[in-house]
Amino acid sequence: PRILVLHGPNLNLLGRREPEVYGTTSLAAIDAALRRRAATSGVEVDTFQSNHEGALIDRLHEAPGRYRGVILNPGGYAHTSVALRDAVAAVVGLGVPVIEVHLSNVHAREPFRHRLLTAGACRGVISGLGVWSYLLALEALLAADGPGGL
Ligand code: DQA
Repeated sequence: PRILVLHGPNLNLLGRREPEVYGTTSLAAIDAALRRRAATSGVEVDTFQSNHEGALIDRLHEAPGRYRGVILNPGGYAHTSVALRDAVAAVVGLGVPVIEVHLSNVHAREPFRHRLLTAGACRGVISGLGVWSYLLALEALLAADGPGGL
């Protein structure tokens, strides 16, 4: 089994970008932590970062039949992209759980970050727990087969 992790725009700068908001952990370190945790359950993780809306949508479209679930940090597209939301809805409708994650607590930030277009189509949302937002989403997807599975 495989899980897909999608990182949206500007997350390639993680670790250097506004560290007081997003922390000092690099994207590569987050991906490595996810891979390590998943491996202990015999699950492989594919990761993909893009600054392009369409590239993220293309990867989402590939999820059905290929991935047990998707962890999505849409970055700023969370607040703007109807197209990404529609792609999430399509994939969730085909039976693939998509969990939206944010490193920062978007509800504690500027009002324009309080509106999440993508989240409403997702299976669930985790925001504000830094790297743990990703790791907890992974836990839920790894439990998908067991009791309390998604
Ligand atoms: C973010 C929150 C978004 O509002 C912001 O545009 C990002 C990162 C987060 O992980 O906290 O790029 O998705």
